[in-house]
Amino acid sequence: MEKLVVKGPTPLKGEVTISGAKNAAVAILPATLLIDGVCTIENLPNISDIKISCEILRQLGAKITWNNEHSITIDTTNITTTKAPLDLTSKFRASYYIIGAMLGRKGEIEVGMPGGCKLGARPIDQHIKGFEMLGATVNLEKGTIYAKAKKLKAAPIYMDIVSVGATINVMLASVLAKGTTTIDNAAKEPHIVDVANFLNTMGADIRGAGTDVIKINGVEKLHGGCTYSVVPDQIEAGTFMLAAVATRGDLTLKNCITKHLESITAKIFEVGGNVEDNGDSIRVWCNKRPNNANIKTLPYPGFPTDLQPQMGVVLALANGTSVINESIWESRFQYTEELNKMGAKITAQGKTAFFEGVKKLYGAPVYSSDLRAGAALVIAGTAAEGETEIYNLEHIDRGYENIEEKFRKIGAKIERVKE
Ligand code: EPU
Repeated sequence: MEKLVVKGPTPLKGEVTISGAKNAAVAILPATLLIDGVCTIENLPNISDIKISCEILRQLGAKITWNNEHSITIDTTNITTTKAPLDLTSKFRASYYIIGAMLGRKGEIEVGMPGGCKLGARPIDQHIKGFEMLGATVNLEKGTIYAKAKKLKAAPIYMDIVSVGATINVMLASVLAKGTTTIDNAAKEPHIVDVANFLNTMGADIRGAGTDVIKINGVEKLHGGCTYSVVPDQIEAGTFMLAAVATRGDLTLKNCITKHLESITAKIFEVGGNVEDNGDSIRVWCNKRPNNANIKTLPYPGFPTDLQPQMGVVLALANGTSVINESIWESRFQYTEELNKMGAKITAQGKTAFFEGVKKLYGAPVYSSDLRAGAALVIAGTAAEGETEIYNLEHIDRGYENIEEKFRKIGAKIERVKE
């Protein structure tokens, strides 16, 4: 077992290069199943979710060549089975994209129920509703999903809930379906636009991604022969922006799209931090104790749930009382118990948490309950006085590339230690 040992407090200072977006990459990789050919994907984050995605594709028959640790060439000419490896698909959430992509490619797939962070109930009813409206039958037996379609046919699909996963999955399934599919009440996250851009580069006809109505004009075939670079990770960028504020540091983040960071920028100004938008880089600094603020997480362009725990560290240290209302996931306050072990004063009740700001946090042994909780604990450990030990690193490694190396380069005293 490994743990991270962080000694603080350290104001983080310097430059960080942001990696490609996990949540775009985990959809773009299965999307390659819709192509009968070869393509190259660049700016992939070097994280465990990507390695598992590649292994699933390999076991379905794709040939994968690593060009370097951030780029693969993938040949999906011969997809040899419609049974996805159950042990691997149950390891992470985004394995549900295999369903949309394989319905499009083969009209059939057998896949394990998706796993991923335990953030409360994570139903996939909107995905299933979308597939069924496109003409598929979907059955769930003993933890395995069986989806089948003789021929997918375009349909108007209204999403009852704004869902990132369901929007992308229906987009994948409808790219090769005959006619025009409309997704109403679609999610608008940057990774949805990125997946649509990738598919359009390969010959799809998707319009309106990034708005709440997406139209997909079905095409006969997607072609290979293209190279695509994954969009920078909005959540990794936001994590470092909030780390700069929590540690009263000064960071410049390179390779980011500042437009995607507007809700975070607005909140940083509200708590008294500074943000300078330099086009494809952003500088964030803070030289005083943050002010209190209230947050409600919302689908994009609202404040992202995936930055709620990192913002929680800032508010735990703020001057005054703050309230966070988590409107997406029912169990995303597990990190607050860990921050309380470090001296924070947070009371979480259901989807609301009250933060009575303290002047200092103190090092303690803490456990990461999910990916973003883990990132929040790394920030807290860097801001806290003394030594923090962070356990359950498998969550962090799923979504942050070389987290300790990136933090070390900006001054953190952080080591990965084998127990
Ligand atoms: N929902 C349903 N039915 C569905 C789908 C979703 O009720 O069929 C509900 C969910 O329970 C949730 C809300 O709708 O309350 C939004 O869920 P969404 O489908 O948007 O989430 P997701 O696609 O499962 C992705 C990210 C999450 C991120 C959410 C929200 C991936 C692989 N995961 O999950 O990322 O929190 O969108 O932005 O893209 C993370 O990276 O740490 C992470 C958890």
